[in-house]
Amino acid sequence: MQPKKERSPCPAVLGHFDQQYSEELGDLWASAREVLLDPRSWQYGVMLNRFSVVTDITQILQSQGFSTLLPQTCVSARLFDSPSLMTYSKYQEGEDTLPTLRISKCPREDFDLQPVITSDEHRQDLQSEPSISFPAASLQCYIHPSPLRFPSQAHRPGQLKQYYLLNAASLLPVLALQVRDGDKVLDLCSAPGGKAVAIMQSATPELLCCNEPDPHRRDWLTKTLESFLPHSVNSRVVVSARDGRSLGHSEAGFYDKVLVDAPCSNDRSWLYSSNNQQGEQRLKGRSRLPVVQAQLLRAALSAVRPGGVVVYSTCTLSSFENHAVVETVLNDFPEAEPEDLWEEIAIPLSKYFEFSPHPGYEQLHHEASMQPGATYHHRLGILVVPRPGKTWGPMFFSRLRRRE
Ligand SMILES: C[S@@+](CC[C@H](N)C(=O)[O-])C[C@H]1O[C@@H](n2cnc3c(N)ncnc32)[C@H](O)[C@@H]1O
Repeated sequence: MQPKKERSPCPAVLGHFDQQYSEELGDLWASAREVLLDPRSWQYGVMLNRFSVVTDITQILQSQGFSTLLPQTCVSARLFDSPSLMTYSKYQEGEDTLPTLRISKCPREDFDLQPVITSDEHRQDLQSEPSISFPAASLQCYIHPSPLRFPSQAHRPGQLKQYYLLNAASLLPVLALQVRDGDKVLDLCSAPGGKAVAIMQSATPELLCCNEPDPHRRDWLTKTLESFLPHSVNSRVVVSARDGRSLGHSEAGFYDKVLVDAPCSNDRSWLYSSNNQQGEQRLKGRSRLPVVQAQLLRAALSAVRPGGVVVYSTCTLSSFENHAVVETVLNDFPEAEPEDLWEEIAIPLSKYFEFSPHPGYEQLHHEASMQPGATYHHRLGILVVPRPGKTWGPMFFSRLRRRE
């Protein structure tokens, strides 16, 4: 592993965060700050690609002390590691209809559904944690208790990548989305595609529409999809180039599940802005973000069918971009109902992540309740706050169901 180059935090951003987050998060900010200011302490998750043969990787991971974040049961779709070459038959920005992917070469179309080969170690994991039960059983992510960074995988000509490195908290919005085989799913803000890949690990949707309006980032998204998905599932995955805010009308009621992984302050990356000027520039535009985020969330609620769900997520600690956005949208969207994710996600995974239901609210009202199934504020969403030893996050996620 190469030692990471030392980076220094941007003073303007740090000063701004100190002011806002010490007020909103109280003591939680002190520990989050300690993590954010020490990149050497950051942990990395290794999400396996079920479409590729990963036996060698799991053996290496296990020998290095990595263990699975989620229980492994059920089936894994394996596609013999075939290459994924695809071209777009239609691919234009601002186009009204969704572009479709055309497979240009397809050496092996079918794929097997085979049981995951679980080692004794895995079986022991499962036995010791019987209370954890997620439907997305084929989603596998390995984590390490210390900040051990697994090397990223270079391009392998003609072969799919075996794993994707990520902040393990990024998987939580995907778990909250509860994608099932046959669902129609919209990933409204999709690039670079980490959550789209995670969705395809969780289930086999009938359709996954990955939307990204920024051309440069869309190229990145396309490359990610090409590197991880086999030809046999490409027909289910389309890339679109729309402003997500306009999708609510044109796709009204079409999707079963919509993920809004919104453009946000991205605390980790803002803190390490390349210079103070860039940091200040970002902070200047910060107050406009909640407006766009609320527009995207409204569009998602329009695009989902009655009874379907929308998951809203960000990677900032800012309550203005998190709970406040959800609350604003709920006020003018009476068909949407927030769901409590505390018992479903926070309690089973509290060993790995530091969860907080609504720190800003509790700070202000001094009536913190960490009990399951608690208040309305509980249901507005859950915040993952980094702290030493559990450095995952920041990540906020909230699930809204559109009433039947
Ligand atoms: C947090 S990133 C998404 C990360 C991605 N979901 C993943 O897991 O890799 C937010 C994305 O939203 C895109 N975005 C910005 N404005 C948008 C809009 N109006 N509609 C849709 N996407 C937008 C940004 O270009 C950016 O790629």
